[in-house]
Amino acid sequence: MPELTAYLAPRGFLEELLAEVREVQLVHDHLVVCHGAPQGVVWVDNIWFDARYLPAPSIGKAAAQLKAIQRNWACYPTRWHRRCTLIQEKLPHVSAKPLAFGSEPPSAPLGSWTLTEPDQLLAASRCSSPFQNGRPEFIEDKKTPPNRAYLKLWEVLTRLPDRPGPGDFCLDLGSSPGGWTWVLQSLGARVLSVDKAGLEGGIDRLERVEFREQSAFALIPEEVGPVDWLFCDIACYPRRLLTMIQRWISSGNCRNFVCTIKLQGQVDMIELEAFRSIPGSRVVHLWHNKHELTWIRLDPV
Ligand SMILES: C[S@@+](CC[C@H](N)C(=O)[O-])C[C@H]1O[C@@H](n2cnc3c(N)ncnc32)[C@H](O)[C@@H]1O
Repeated sequence: MPELTAYLAPRGFLEELLAEVREVQLVHDHLVVCHGAPQGVVWVDNIWFDARYLPAPSIGKAAAQLKAIQRNWACYPTRWHRRCTLIQEKLPHVSAKPLAFGSEPPSAPLGSWTLTEPDQLLAASRCSSPFQNGRPEFIEDKKTPPNRAYLKLWEVLTRLPDRPGPGDFCLDLGSSPGGWTWVLQSLGARVLSVDKAGLEGGIDRLERVEFREQSAFALIPEEVGPVDWLFCDIACYPRRLLTMIQRWISSGNCRNFVCTIKLQGQVDMIELEAFRSIPGSRVVHLWHNKHELTWIRLDPV
């Protein structure tokens, strides 16, 4: 059977995904099914590997086919919503409890399925995200952090194999009002937090936090010294961020990078490629990103 891969575009970013993929077979809502092996795309919440069409002549037979493959399935309903619900109700319950930050994402294989016709399923037992339809939900802290930007950092740190901890020195650039600094401090790291605007909620007075009210672009890597993690969420043009990243990489002073690329209007694919082509790095769209992407480069050792 020829290989099929399906890509679930982030809400509102279907056009961006369609501009990236080749050999599109069908588009249902935000799900794009393509011929061939997985393509390296950025605008995606979940990739369905080796997707297959299966006959679904009845609700019972559809559920039985899925159950015969594995236990856990998430539905992405695009049409025939009622029928999708009835099929999903016949499948074993999959817990969708929000995750406490710091705990591991679900490890049991989670497949995805949809109906492409009333009597035909498209299903993939392996997907890129351990979360239902690529959406990680956390038990939120609605009291301490001054905004919701911390969820972006929680998400990326949950996805990465490594994260800052006690003994690590982090830079948080573009840190106001302080959500990311609060997360990094709470992990036990020492944080140099830099923004032209101040921090809120006393975050600048937390132990291990030093706040500098200045432009982050004026920092000189050699003066700052060795940095374990550089986090950047500065609202700026991607070109400016790229120049700053290149300065830090060539200084050899920083081991790991997590930077938000803020996009304006139509995405400049050439600019995006400049980030993607930095050796050892990748660009992802986080579920909690808005019109932005996240560039990541981790120390290989
Ligand atoms: C999206 S907010 C950052 C939110 C932050 N990560 C948090 O968790 O609270 C973007 C920030 O970039 C800052 N910014 C813009 N230009 C800057 C510059 N040249 N240097 C430092 N910060 C800058 C803005 O002041 C703003 O606070």
